[in-house]
Amino acid sequence: MNAVSCKELQIRIGSKIIFDRLDFSIKEGQFVGVFGPNGAGKTTFFKCLFGNIPYSHGKLEVLGQSPIKIRGKIGYVPQQRDIFPLNLTGRAFIATAIRGNRLGIPFLFREDQKEIDRVLALVDAKDLAQQPLTELSGGQRQRLLLAQALLGKPNILILDEPLNNIDPKWTQHILNLIKHIQSQQKLTVFLSTHDLNPLVNIIDQVLCLGNKTAILGKAKEVITSEILTDLYQTPMQVIKAENRIFVTSFT
Ligand SMILES: Nc1ncnc2c1ncn2[C@@H]1O[C@H](COP(=O)(O)OP(=O)(O)OP(=O)(O)O)[C@@H](O)[C@H]1O
Ligand SMILES: [Mg+2]
Repeated sequence: MNAVSCKELQIRIGSKIIFDRLDFSIKEGQFVGVFGPNGAGKTTFFKCLFGNIPYSHGKLEVLGQSPIKIRGKIGYVPQQRDIFPLNLTGRAFIATAIRGNRLGIPFLFREDQKEIDRVLALVDAKDLAQQPLTELSGGQRQRLLLAQALLGKPNILILDEPLNNIDPKWTQHILNLIKHIQSQQKLTVFLSTHDLNPLVNIIDQVLCLGNKTAILGKAKEVITSEILTDLYQTPMQVIKAENRIFVTSFT
């Protein structure tokens, strides 16, 4: 089944057209890197996938259905994460989302506790469960956000710039974790980032969003100097060596 299928899709915010005539489909179980400059519409596209922003024309199907019908099947780590309830422990923070994103910690049944244990184990964060969020690093909080998004076994995981402010070691650690979970659980993952290099060699597909349109393909096909220079409107160089890809920008 297709995870996402767009036909003649138009997305507007107010009168502004963010995307026009998107036509592509992505099969389930793919790890998709989502690239594009600031303001290209990455966050807008993600929100459209779970019906948070309506589309204005064409057709969008997610897991073969209308976006609003599959909300429970999508795990989402939003880009804006300033509102962190810092007085909570890692475990309590995850618990706040056990029945959707309501405020406060709901009463936890035994199966809820088991589910929290499951997602903590998935992201290798059992040791963070009892620690207050105030005492955790950005990378450690990132793992808890990932755990929260995995509650309820989603089919699609959307991670909007999860690597911001994360050092190279943690970036590698978190990406390895995501890749492992994705391939074990046959999840479809969408991950947006402005730092292409850590991602280009582990993703199955690239979705470049910009200029109101989308380019989808394998990293080798899409990550080229021409496409990236056009996308970011600044000179970009792509170096391919020993089956690996490196991207640099220069002025
Ligand atoms: N609530 C809003 N009202 C009006 N315009 C908006 C709103 N949200 C986003 N936009 C506009 O939609 C466009 C796409 O924004 P979006 O946040 O999706 O970009 P992005 O690719 O995620 O950028 P970034 O890399 O900076 O996160 C931008 O031009 C932005 O100004
Ligand atoms: Mg964004």
